[in-house]
Amino acid sequence: MVRKATCNSHGQDSSYFLGWQEYEKNPYDPLTNPLGIIQMGLAENQLSFDLLESWLASHQEAVALKKDGEFMFRELALFQDYHGLPAFKTALAEFMSEMRRNKVEFNPENLVLTAGATSANETLMFCLADPGDAFLLPTPYYPGFDRDIKWRTGVEIVPIHCSSTNGFKITKQAVEEAYRNAKKRNLKVKGVLITNPSNPLGTAMTRDELAILINFITAKNIHLISDEIYSGTVFGSPGFISVKEVIKGRDDLTNKVHIVYSLSKDLGLPGFRVGAIYSENDVVVAAATKMSSFGLISSHTQYLLSVMLSDKDFAKKYIVENKRRLEQRHRLFVSGLETAGISCLNSNAGLFCWVDMRHLLKSNTFGAEMELWKKILLKVGLNISPGASCHCQEPGFFRVCFANMSEGTLNLALQRLKSFVDSDSESNNYNHCRLPSLPKWVLRLSPSDRKSER
Ligand SMILES: Cc1ncc(COP(=O)(O)O)c(C=O)c1O
Repeated sequence: MVRKATCNSHGQDSSYFLGWQEYEKNPYDPLTNPLGIIQMGLAENQLSFDLLESWLASHQEAVALKKDGEFMFRELALFQDYHGLPAFKTALAEFMSEMRRNKVEFNPENLVLTAGATSANETLMFCLADPGDAFLLPTPYYPGFDRDIKWRTGVEIVPIHCSSTNGFKITKQAVEEAYRNAKKRNLKVKGVLITNPSNPLGTAMTRDELAILINFITAKNIHLISDEIYSGTVFGSPGFISVKEVIKGRDDLTNKVHIVYSLSKDLGLPGFRVGAIYSENDVVVAAATKMSSFGLISSHTQYLLSVMLSDKDFAKKYIVENKRRLEQRHRLFVSGLETAGISCLNSNAGLFCWVDMRHLLKSNTFGAEMELWKKILLKVGLNISPGASCHCQEPGFFRVCFANMSEGTLNLALQRLKSFVDSDSESNNYNHCRLPSLPKWVLRLSPSDRKSER
């Protein structure tokens, strides 16, 4: 086997993915497996499916691939242009503007369609960096980036270490330090990649943070990628500020700033594989369009969604109602955590919370974080994602998802968590239980271990 096929940089064997495997072996079901593991490690949005389903039910013509009574089937079955269906690109561009309260416009000609944000992020790496070059990423970051940014491209990730002392906000010092670290490793820094709103923090970036980043990329003459896949999940104030809004009028930056988007989170359609790159850099758009041949969106999906998203009335109502439901769910989750004596980072977006369980650790180490994670996964029956899998520098934080289940299941998860915390603090009961064993590498995977594996 060749190196690419066998190397470890995909990140498949991180605890983030291992938790999913454990869940698959014993998934919770209220009727058939009430003691099973509840999946809280998956950033899925299932809160507004009924809105999509009722739209589909009342638009049977689009579902049947018809337009004005005529079948579109043959046309769509044969369509194979990697520029994408023009009607879909227009509808998507307008939907992206709507998400940003029409403060900015997106020209459909600058959109490149990709099979999800996964493909969009990797494609941008291929366009902007050579193997061995580096991108700076604020920590904690989405665990999938190890796969998307590094694996096939050979690009290196250099962390911008953010800290709990200021709510994991980006600072000038942290960005400069990451740049120095990259230089010490003789890496050429090609850009910074952020997720705004952040996965896993669930916070939208402030204007100050965006200004720090813009000043930094201007000074260093490098790129900025803003993955705005969660832009439609911002349910609280301060609202979402897209990087596109911040660079308005900055002609010097239009070639350097690129946005990634997808319908996986805002519409809850990860299975449809709909993503996009938005860039005003012509070279990037041309190269990414050619590369998109490796991950196109089916014309069937493009057609259906072009009809759905161009229904402006529906799109507007969906955005508002989806945010309302997310806010309500977030409130329920945070107050349930409080009842269990657990706090989390103050957040205003996303499908998850960044939960602080430092007080439940036996020691302030990543080993203790893994022990706690293992207990919560195998004894309490909740799959959550440990901070180490998001490259957090401080042990004891976990990303916990709240929008991929029913309210009843969330309440059960909160009850399980509360009884765990109560029994743990009273008698340390759970510590005496024999736990099924996990592969050795699970306890090995602290950020410092990873450094030595690089
Ligand atoms: C920040 C971020 N980027 C990209 C992705 C991948 O999304 P997609 O399903 O569109 O490939 C995710 C999925 O969780 C994500 O959280």
